[in-house]
Amino acid sequence: MRSAPRFVQRSSAIGLLLAAGVQAQQLPVYPLGEGPWEYTTYEQNTRIRLSVVTRGLFHPWTMALLPGTATAANPLGDALISERRGTVRLFRDGTLREEPIIDLSQILPFDQLFDVVLHPDFATNHIVYFNYMRKAPRPDGTNGYYATTALVRARFEGERIVDLKEIFEARAWSKNFGGATSRIMFMPDRTLWLSLSHRLDLEAPQRLDSHIGKILRLNDDGSPAAGNPFAGVAGALPEIYSYGIRSAMGFTVHPHTGAVWEVENGPQGGDEVNVLRAGANYGWPVVSYGRDYDGKPMASVPWRQDMEPPLLSWIPSITVSSLSFYTGDRIPAWKNNLFVSAMIAGRIPGTGHLQRVVFNDNGEQRREQLFNDLQQRIRYVGQGPDGLLYLLTDENDGVLLRIEQIGTTAPAPLPAAGTPAVAPGQAVSTALFPQHDCAACHEVERRTVGPSYREIARHYTAARPDIDAIARRIIDGGSGNFGEAAMTAHSGISIDAARAMVRQILALGSTD
Ligand code: HEC
Repeated sequence: MRSAPRFVQRSSAIGLLLAAGVQAQQLPVYPLGEGPWEYTTYEQNTRIRLSVVTRGLFHPWTMALLPGTATAANPLGDALISERRGTVRLFRDGTLREEPIIDLSQILPFDQLFDVVLHPDFATNHIVYFNYMRKAPRPDGTNGYYATTALVRARFEGERIVDLKEIFEARAWSKNFGGATSRIMFMPDRTLWLSLSHRLDLEAPQRLDSHIGKILRLNDDGSPAAGNPFAGVAGALPEIYSYGIRSAMGFTVHPHTGAVWEVENGPQGGDEVNVLRAGANYGWPVVSYGRDYDGKPMASVPWRQDMEPPLLSWIPSITVSSLSFYTGDRIPAWKNNLFVSAMIAGRIPGTGHLQRVVFNDNGEQRREQLFNDLQQRIRYVGQGPDGLLYLLTDENDGVLLRIEQIGTTAPAPLPAAGTPAVAPGQAVSTALFPQHDCAACHEVERRTVGPSYREIARHYTAARPDIDAIARRIIDGGSGNFGEAAMTAHSGISIDAARAMVRQILALGSTD
């Protein structure tokens, strides 16, 4: 591991760039047109429309959706939107209020604002939380930056935020400016998770007596939650849930497993999605796939047996900024896909976009990049109560955007008459597609490992089959309509070849 002072010194200029939410006026700006924009995406040719819900935000960080406020005219409902400079904006009845409802920079010993989130019982108690960088004079009397992350609880009453109270101050005081981002999320078990970034410190993320580079698990009053992995361990802080984190930019809960997935920034490479486990060490800065800003590998090894490898990583970095599973029904082909927002790819301004990552039971299958053409820094992706996806752009003229489906391209035609199936009289055990491994699991008439081709054909003749979806099952594998076992993936088969196979199988339904 390299020495801390060298990194800190070298990174002080980068620190300004990293605090880009505040400094972005100096970066190139790519104005966003009026929209809407329409796209045909990969999945079952899903066509989508991206449209502007409101403009006029200034470097928004996140949005908290107020329950029970959605209407036909305002399907997102009302929202509190935090801006990095310390202001909170109210989006109500489909309109963004011009004036912020509070300016925390005037009230708190303030440096930067991050999230605004609602208490799980917000509907009855109106409690909201903020995390921010709290400044203080340096204890050694020298002039300059000195700050930590703090958590504030308050109440949202009608149009005002009142009763501010700081309930947690992290043991993360540092003179380093940069690497300071933080996110909050309430989990289904009602614990409050708070991420603390690395602060350009190469030691603290691995030390359990510091909150730097950690994921913390707290109660709603800021005290450590019961059952944390280092509770009672001498010298370890009881709030810590996992460590060795660089810049955590978001959490999301997997819709099926309930596991918490986290996204974090690497330096020039090595942005990561991690599955968080109690007490686990995610390796920063001892192991990393990333390079430092001078091009040197960050760590001498990318992986160690006793540290958690990322589930996903990006080289070069895309400057991840948030993540969310899509669990709605309005864009069916995207259900349970992971969405990761990106600010800058490969350190080239104007390359922000949204990534859609598809998984099956084995792991990742594909990543699609969306909206590259708009060149916006995307800070946040999340789902609305209407089952649609929403984005915030981190720009001087920050925008709230909505993604909805507008249809699919025409479904593939049914098999043409005369599509070769199995010749009459052909032996029932004869396999189709001899050049592939299909015969290992499929026969024409008899169920073996997988369903018989005849069974597949009969199943689909009941309704107009989605040939593309079945074809994709051949390519991607996984289980679906036929139960117990899973189909193996065939990544070498093209979509056209797979469609032709499906037509051949479906033709068996009509020769009955
Ligand atoms: C290792 C076993 C295995 C192999 C090899 C295999 N399959 Fe399958 N296949 C299955 C199983 C099991 C299912 C049922 C999955 C389910 O529950 O939908 C299946 C389902 C299917 C389906 C129905 C898909 C759907 O939409 O539900 C098609 C079509 C199919 N296979 C075609 C093929 C073709 C073509 C090949 C060769 C390229 C192939 N299979 C190779 C095991 C296999």
